[in-house]
Amino acid sequence: MKTALISDIHGNLEALQTVLADIREQQVPRIFCLGDIVGYGPNPRECLDEVIRSCDFTILGNHDEATLFDPDGFNPVALQAVYWTRDQLEQAGSNATQANKRWDFLGELPRQHSEDNLLFVHGSAREPTNEYVFPEDVYKRPKLEAIFNRVTQYCFQGHTHIPGVFTHDFDFITPDECDYEFQLGSEKALVNVGSVGQPRDEDPRSCYTIFDSETNQLQFRRLSYAYDETARKIYSIEQLHDSLGDRLKAGR
Ligand SMILES: [Fe+2]
Repeated sequence: MKTALISDIHGNLEALQTVLADIREQQVPRIFCLGDIVGYGPNPRECLDEVIRSCDFTILGNHDEATLFDPDGFNPVALQAVYWTRDQLEQAGSNATQANKRWDFLGELPRQHSEDNLLFVHGSAREPTNEYVFPEDVYKRPKLEAIFNRVTQYCFQGHTHIPGVFTHDFDFITPDECDYEFQLGSEKALVNVGSVGQPRDEDPRSCYTIFDSETNQLQFRRLSYAYDETARKIYSIEQLHDSLGDRLKAGR
């Protein structure tokens, strides 16, 4: 069965709608979201509604958690965005039922999910919500070994916004390097599925990954979306720092 793996939407509705349209076009029957639906971006409510409607399974991300509880370890720009996001979700407006539905959904998100030999997290197998696994961690063998030890076969994750595959022999393969298709083998692998709403690998196009559990084939999908429109919305909201719009155009 094919599963579309999306992550790190960060309140970017233009990117999310573009990705969901592509998933429908590719006729992928199932969508898993690996967290960070909100934070940074201008449309947290709309993105939550879309995820509630479209995703078959969703994991809690660190920004989702920060919106619910006391934020920890956030820089001032991210922190201000957390408080603004929280205000947006608290403004029930005319539809209190929908506002409660969003809070309930966020409050019930699990930190990880496993299915046969597959693990799904936001950050890492070791610290599901908060640990970053960066490409340069291939040079930190004890760290990667400890993480691999917690994985049965494949672990799908997000959080860094940098798509690619960590192989068991301590290599990191970017989508570019494998021509957007990667055949997973019998060895363990960690797969970063990329970011829908705030890519940071210097490619501003939205990213998600399709995994076929019958062939163990991965496909990284990159899609242009109207990031000018998202940036324009960010610039018009005082509490969202302009750099959050600028970075969308640069993919960093
Ligand atoms: Fe994120």
